[in-house]
Amino acid sequence: MKILVTGGAGYIGSHTIIDILEQGIHEVISIDNFSNSDEKVFDRIFEITGQRVKNYNLDLTDYQKLKTEVFEKEGKIDGIIHFAALKAVGESVEKPVHYYYNNLNSMINLLKCTQKFDVNYFIFSSSCTVYGNPENIPVTENSPIGVTESPYGYTKVVGERILEDFATTKSNFKAVALRYFNPVGAHMSGLNGEFPKGRPNNLVPVVTQFASLWLSELTVHGTDYETRDGTAIRDYIHVSDISHAHLLAMEKLASQSDYKSYDIFNLGVGQGVTVFEVINAFEKVSGIKLNYTVGPRRSGDVEAIYANNQKARTELGWNPKYGIEDAMKSAWIWQQKLNAAMHDDKVLLS
Ligand code: NAD
Ligand code: WQD
Repeated sequence: MKILVTGGAGYIGSHTIIDILEQGIHEVISIDNFSNSDEKVFDRIFEITGQRVKNYNLDLTDYQKLKTEVFEKEGKIDGIIHFAALKAVGESVEKPVHYYYNNLNSMINLLKCTQKFDVNYFIFSSSCTVYGNPENIPVTENSPIGVTESPYGYTKVVGERILEDFATTKSNFKAVALRYFNPVGAHMSGLNGEFPKGRPNNLVPVVTQFASLWLSELTVHGTDYETRDGTAIRDYIHVSDISHAHLLAMEKLASQSDYKSYDIFNLGVGQGVTVFEVINAFEKVSGIKLNYTVGPRRSGDVEAIYANNQKARTELGWNPKYGIEDAMKSAWIWQQKLNAAMHDDKVLLS
């Protein structure tokens, strides 16, 4: 298959490209405008796989360019894995129109191209954020869609709906929405990982950057939750396990001709981990004691959520390999690479 990965320079997209290249069966091209990434990621992909990936530096909200510069030139594209989106929850509250414009127009333009150029398979990056604050955990794919606190979260709810509506009306088209829980960690080689632009908000990059003295404080947001240690519970899933599920989903769509036109899968480990447990795991694998402070709850945070991942296990044959310590260890190796690059001529960073 020829697979188009959008957001191929991003955190999860780049790991997925590596997985596809390492499998060595499919051809892959990327579209990324580097709004939240850097072109040096393709050097890292080359270092790991020995292969160069063609990336189109264009904005998916520009339909004309997407059509003429990618789809008309590339010939037959069999499947699309659509990662590209803006993803900062807090920023989306400040700039809702920017988020709706970027995330929804990107999706719509891609779907228009799948129609015009007869692309048959589509995988969409959705999120556990669609469950809002769930009444019952673990959540299954049948758990109700909740109230999404942020415009970002709502782009995932609407994105899923647009995709489902499209898939059920277009013949020879099959789509899957993958609902990621909390993607963490880095490629086990330590050669590729997350490098968020600006100050990170997610726990794991905050922890590794705090340990590297890039950040002056690490605040635990809330210790008064009704959980085993008072901190909030999430399902932290290694980025390479997430990536691999995309390959399995794509192959499922391509190999099973009677498969339904639209489906949804949870991608989580299936276990809840508290904030203190994440910190402990980091301390254990790094040998560094984190001098964190305790603060109030963060607005919009849910108390506890984790996945029932049985459907992905059974139907996709997905078998997540890594736990929280693997994730923290790989994230720390990657962070140390970033630290070293700060003092090196061959900078990884821009
Ligand atoms: P990321 O920001 O690292 O990667 C997204 C990439 O898309 C970036 O490289 C960015 O430059 C590109 N992009 C954004 N808008 C674009 C546009 N209009 N045209 C072209 N390129 C564009 O994010 P990620 O963590 O790799 O997330 C990938 C997907 O997974 C996103 O859709 C995100 O919403 C979803 N997701 C992420 C998480 C998470 O915690 N990382 C959790 C659940 C879902
Ligand atoms: C995890 C826990 C924080 C930072 C977000 C999005 C979600 C999805 C995944 C895209 C929470 C606590 C964090 C810190 C802390 N993304 N924390 N101190 O909020 O579960 O999910 O990313 O779809 O939509 O909302 O992830 O990593 O920000 O937080 O105590 O400095 O760590 O309060 O309990 P979250 P997170």
